[in-house]
Amino acid sequence: MERNFKRTLITTALPYANGPVHIGHLAGVYVPADIYARYLRLRGEEVTMVGGSDEHGVPITIKARNEGVTPQDIVDRYHKIIKDSFEELGISFDVYSRTTSDIHRATASEFFSRLHKKGEFIEKTSMQLYDEKANQFLADRYVTGECPHCHNPRAYGDQCEACGTSLNATDLINPKSAITGETPVLRETHHWFLPLDRWENKLREWILEGHKEWKTNVYGQCKSWLDLGLQPRAVTRDLDWGVPVPLKEAEGKVLYVWFDAPIGYISNTKEIYPDSWEKWWKNPETRIINFIGKDNIVFHCIVFPAMLMAYGDNYQLPDNVPANEFLNLEGDKISTSRNWAVWLHEYLRDFPGKQDVLRYVLTANAPETKDNDFTWRDFQTRNNSELVAILGNFVNRVIVLTHKYFEGVVPEACDLEQIDKDLFAEVSAIKEALTQNIETFHFREALKEAMNIARAGNKYLQETEPWKVAKTDMKRVATILNVALQICGDIAVAFEPFMPFMSRRLADALHLGKLTWNELGSRDIVKPGEHIETPELLFEKIEDDAINAQIERLARIKRENELKNFKPAEIQEPTDFETFSKLDIRVGTVVNCEKVKKSKKLLRFLIDDGIGQRTILSGIAEHYEPEALVGRQVCFIANFPPRQMMGIESEGMILSALNADGSLSVIAPTAKVVNGAQVK
Ligand code: 2FM
Ligand code: ZN
Repeated sequence: MERNFKRTLITTALPYANGPVHIGHLAGVYVPADIYARYLRLRGEEVTMVGGSDEHGVPITIKARNEGVTPQDIVDRYHKIIKDSFEELGISFDVYSRTTSDIHRATASEFFSRLHKKGEFIEKTSMQLYDEKANQFLADRYVTGECPHCHNPRAYGDQCEACGTSLNATDLINPKSAITGETPVLRETHHWFLPLDRWENKLREWILEGHKEWKTNVYGQCKSWLDLGLQPRAVTRDLDWGVPVPLKEAEGKVLYVWFDAPIGYISNTKEIYPDSWEKWWKNPETRIINFIGKDNIVFHCIVFPAMLMAYGDNYQLPDNVPANEFLNLEGDKISTSRNWAVWLHEYLRDFPGKQDVLRYVLTANAPETKDNDFTWRDFQTRNNSELVAILGNFVNRVIVLTHKYFEGVVPEACDLEQIDKDLFAEVSAIKEALTQNIETFHFREALKEAMNIARAGNKYLQETEPWKVAKTDMKRVATILNVALQICGDIAVAFEPFMPFMSRRLADALHLGKLTWNELGSRDIVKPGEHIETPELLFEKIEDDAINAQIERLARIKRENELKNFKPAEIQEPTDFETFSKLDIRVGTVVNCEKVKKSKKLLRFLIDDGIGQRTILSGIAEHYEPEALVGRQVCFIANFPPRQMMGIESEGMILSALNADGSLSVIAPTAKVVNGAQVK
């Protein structure tokens, strides 16, 4: 492949340190970035991958307030969890730092100062909502109130989710602070803005003319932003958490988190290369690639490039921004606040040693061109029917056969037959497609190609049948197994970017040293005479129990969320006491309770109502075991006319409360009362 650059700087979106990372982050950003970095390293290229935690912003301060701790406590906690779990998953950052580091504060501060000195900002005074109890200005997202358009009472200050209108917090009717619930007041404030409109033409030319090769989702989003026309953006905030604005007149203000976060890429590079960091940022022979999720496109393609252009000093713009779409979980949007996620640190705890399985499944399902779904069943199937049945099975068969016929020593190949040559040719073709796909950020396709090597290997064994040939021609068996072992070597190389743990184990078993992309497809990766170790199985089957436990966990979270988000029904039309008093509601004791045959829903109650016993049918069979109700008191309507259901006469109705998750709970007095007592 032609190269017109000397080195590659890979940046990965800095995750907010207000929660652990989940599979959505991984599939969108970190796994693809790692595949790319590992691939370039295998090619022997000069590459650096930088990452770090994004430790500023309002949500971190709110989380701290809710927990009664400091924002620093919050970011210390999550930075550690995030950093450790990335490491365990094998995400091969050259540096993983944080935006609360001194070097970052100094870099971001200097960046602002230079833009300020160069006259790159405009200043504006405006009125904003202020929470007097929390002593802070409120970001639009932290104001709720009535939507001026559709009158939804729970609209957010930036958007009404009921009618979809974009709002300003000051538009809301009866606004309330989401932090304290207080009514905010309007206060004057002063901020610094980056006039993006000044950079619009340059950005147009750079992206719309110069980068037609970018992914269509990225290019399309940039085009629609540019076509709408760019506006000045505030780069400062009234907040006490962040990088202080380095101006005397800006006391109590910090840099907006989206101003300082991308500068984090620069600070992190400085951290590892204090003396040579500039060659990674200011040298046109360096190619910069930003791996991000789709919600970050505007910041990386418009705002940060405008900042870099405003700074000048030869800062280079990214060469590509291969943003991914979103990964959903079991059909629902992943959400940190709703705990609807598979958290990486929990996965590593629940599936120890299975880092590669997650990496594989997330790549096979990567949301490269559209949103995609992760399901636990698919995870299990991909492990059992692809990793175990195709890849693991091939490698295992080859090694077992080598032990059976050659005591584990790699045999010499004799003259190759056509079928052997065809296999090598096939691997070469696969290598070309695989390389092409990785180079163009199509990692899903690339992974399929890598898997095709194992498929080709299985087919080769099936067709050459060394176990049959062994009866007549051991020389031929030697050749077949030598060829098959070369394919195992190819697998170790081809999968290294995707599944580095498996790759290393296999490479060690085959006595391969440092792997290189070059040797993929060659005929002598694995050397004759080497003794092959028998590795433990590369992959093992994942049983239903482990998967069911995960599915049950999600079901429990869903129920908890339904309870949390319960919105009571609208109050019904007014009525009066007279109407109410016509209903004769009484208490009785359940003498007997059983399921009604052939009905899923109905329970048949025999109730002692103080006068005698009456039969009542109630549709709560899915919510109670009948025995559990015997002996308990319930409330029932005593003066409904009897009616027939499933051939049984029901004399009344048992009262139940409908819970948020759809479950029913019978209404009972809090203390025992006489049977027949009336509810007043
Ligand atoms: O969306 C996010 O999670 C941001 N914390 C990403 C920041 S990317 C970069 F600019 F630092
Ligand atoms: Zn609305």
